[in-house]
Amino acid sequence: MRTETPPLIRLEDYRPSAFLIDRVDLDIRLDPHAARITAELALRPNPEGDADAPLHLDGDDLTLVAIDLDGAGVAPGDLTVEPSGLTLRNPPRRPFVLRLVTQVDPTANTKLMGLYRTDGVYCTQCEADGFRRITYFLDRPDVMSVYTTRIEANREEAPVLLGNGNPVEAGPVGEDRHYAVWHDPHPKPAYLFAIVGGRLGKVETTFRTMEGRDVTCAVYVEPGREDRAGYALDAVIRSMEWDERAFGRAYDLDVFNVVAVSAFNMGAMENKGLNIFNDKYVLAVPDTATDADYAAIEAIIAHEYFHNWSGNRVTCRDWFQLCLKEGLTVFRDQEFSSDMRSRPVHRIGEVRSLRARQFPEDAGPLKHPVRPNAYAEINNFYTATVYDKGAEIVRMLRTLIGGAAFRAGMDRYFADNDGTAATVEDFLAAFATVTGRDLSAFARWYERPGTPKLSASGRYDPAARTYTLRLAQILTVEGPPLVIPVALGLVGAKGPMTDVTCAAVTDGVFILDRDEAELVFENVAEEPVPSLLRDFSAPVRLDLSLTDEQRLRLLARDSDPFNRWQAAQDVAMRLILDPDPARAEAFAEALGTFLDGEALADPAFAALVLALPTEGEAADSLPSDVDPDAIHQARRDLRARLGRALRPRLERIDASLSSGKEAYSPDAASAGRRALRNAALDLIAAGDPQAGAALATQRLDAATNMTDRLAALATIAQIPGEAREAALTAFGERYAQEPLVLDKWFAIQATIAEPETLDRIARLKAHPAFSMTNPNRVRALVGSFSMANPTQFARADGAGFALVADVVKALDSTNPQVAARLLTAFGSWRRLEKNRRVAAAEMLNRIKAVPGLSRDVADILGRTLK
Ligand code: PHE
Ligand code: ZN
Repeated sequence: MRTETPPLIRLEDYRPSAFLIDRVDLDIRLDPHAARITAELALRPNPEGDADAPLHLDGDDLTLVAIDLDGAGVAPGDLTVEPSGLTLRNPPRRPFVLRLVTQVDPTANTKLMGLYRTDGVYCTQCEADGFRRITYFLDRPDVMSVYTTRIEANREEAPVLLGNGNPVEAGPVGEDRHYAVWHDPHPKPAYLFAIVGGRLGKVETTFRTMEGRDVTCAVYVEPGREDRAGYALDAVIRSMEWDERAFGRAYDLDVFNVVAVSAFNMGAMENKGLNIFNDKYVLAVPDTATDADYAAIEAIIAHEYFHNWSGNRVTCRDWFQLCLKEGLTVFRDQEFSSDMRSRPVHRIGEVRSLRARQFPEDAGPLKHPVRPNAYAEINNFYTATVYDKGAEIVRMLRTLIGGAAFRAGMDRYFADNDGTAATVEDFLAAFATVTGRDLSAFARWYERPGTPKLSASGRYDPAARTYTLRLAQILTVEGPPLVIPVALGLVGAKGPMTDVTCAAVTDGVFILDRDEAELVFENVAEEPVPSLLRDFSAPVRLDLSLTDEQRLRLLARDSDPFNRWQAAQDVAMRLILDPDPARAEAFAEALGTFLDGEALADPAFAALVLALPTEGEAADSLPSDVDPDAIHQARRDLRARLGRALRPRLERIDASLSSGKEAYSPDAASAGRRALRNAALDLIAAGDPQAGAALATQRLDAATNMTDRLAALATIAQIPGEAREAALTAFGERYAQEPLVLDKWFAIQATIAEPETLDRIARLKAHPAFSMTNPNRVRALVGSFSMANPTQFARADGAGFALVADVVKALDSTNPQVAARLLTAFGSWRRLEKNRRVAAAEMLNRIKAVPGLSRDVADILGRTLK
């Protein structure tokens, strides 16, 4: 069997469903190997659908035990059952009830889609198309139904039984079984369905909504881990409060449950009233979780909760509209985190991750519009482009129309589309209505793949006291121009030039909606440095040539924190790509002045200024012939130089931030101090590895929390020697019983930039805590290697590619989604220098030769090789 390129599903082929399902009654009997699902579906013809169509219900990996229609049998001649579903050739053209009994094996379900069992806990994952692995159904998001779910299980095995909506009834069944009934009054698509059954501990509290509803909020975790669930529960409450305050959205059920499970393909899932989480994004105590973990938990709890409105109350008509819920919800969770933490620091973090993940995707073979127009496997479209660029589009829309109009448009969107399955057009229509503006040109952002380039150049005329700025947009695909909000200002020797005027700029923003434009600033007293794209006002690559001196003026004087940070990044990037000792010294001096002036006033920001562009970012800035070793060496040299030049300051910072004995708190200010102190340690070590290893060892011993301990371990891990091996061994032993901590330990070792790392990974694959069936373990060891160890993954001898390719092949038959995701690491292979490129192609072709590849892997492979 030869793997074919899987067929495409196209947006233009969208047709309303021929049938609708108003009501779903489920009776689910849990059993480790033979779970029985009885589904009663109240169907009726869709007045908007094809009146003569047969009834086709999707199915996947199901055993059909029984079927009847309005209580009577279905004639065998009328029914076809295939692996992809069942078809009723002559369905009634009036409302009818179909009763289906199916059987599935939750233990054998290694795809983690549908009903599965992890560490003895039953759970479900239905987005995007997992419900069809539970029963036959119209498994598409525009079919919305009211669900009542009865769950029955052995009481010992599953004392806790959870479903969507509100609990209505529970009780014993015979000697050793029991049941619970849940009813969800809000019509929803099948992808939001969920149940959980298991032995679980919980923490809970109540929240009173602005509408006066008392909501019981609970976080369920493995028994004995309840002390690790408190932060997540607190984040739930803060999310509920925030969505009321910021968007006027209240929660709409009596209970809100979050359940942590150990095997999960993604981060978390927004099932109605029953969010199911990868335990990595729930469990946290200072001894096991870092500041970054706390921040991620807060953000993902918020994200899933916010989906209750942006995703659940208003859902997507079809999967092409995925950004409608994901881009919008990422934007909402970013705003939440910005309000909870430092807004500029958070913005810099968002942009770093956009550049690390979305820019390369948008420049490589897997590029696609934020709203794709065709897909072979929808699970491959939960991408940085849909999520993060999708969020940037919403942010630009707000910049374009202003905060008040944006809020009014959101209210309108929710009001007009509540209870429906909507499209990107519906979203934009709400804003067009409240502003009276034509947003059709802006809408091009959803259609156009590729990262636009914004090229800028300026000319100062001292006699006329004018500054002329030329802006041009260069798109990666032909077509009419995009609407690009460019937040900007001019910076003089003493700081922002507040007296200058420019008619085309409103509230500090110029809207570039043509191919190019010329802006004339008047009353410009001295030659300015332009500060463009403040706060990263659009997801574009800025092409503006400034001298280091001009950039360092921005670092020192700009009022926009993002561009201050960006200026330091730009200087550093140039030094990585084109090393120059004299310029490096000047950069070090400017950083020194910066640190003296304000490091302690805003440590989180200072830590970001000290973090140089990553190797990946440097590679992404090159058009071709990327040599990861050269980038690595250049970056290392620059860091060494900075570490030496700044040594006294870094030591002072280290000393003045040395935490006393106060208890750990995950708040942003405390986290910022730890971040700066750990950045200082890492830079000291870059300049003087011997001293760095000694200091890191000390810090490792003295650490009172995982943030400091892991930072010290990461520093020491890049310095070969006895100290490193001892530290790694001790850490591994100390946390032998903590899988989520071992994930960090796996990742640190997988990202050591040395040839021996391959052997290390081979050894770690045999570690008792490693498992190919747990996605977190695989991502920690193999995903980190492929995504964050460019010199070893892209080795010229091909051994790094081979390592990842072997895991992709091994995983494809058990968990194709995770396999496909791992494979995306090859996305930039064509831009590598020749030897590496040839090696990558060989490995990709070896995967291609495997018979019977999953659609997930075949799709990524086909596009990557195209
Ligand atoms: N909808 C989830 C989220 O973004 C992501 C997800 C997709 C989870 C598919 C599981 C499966 O919040
Ligand atoms: Zn989401």
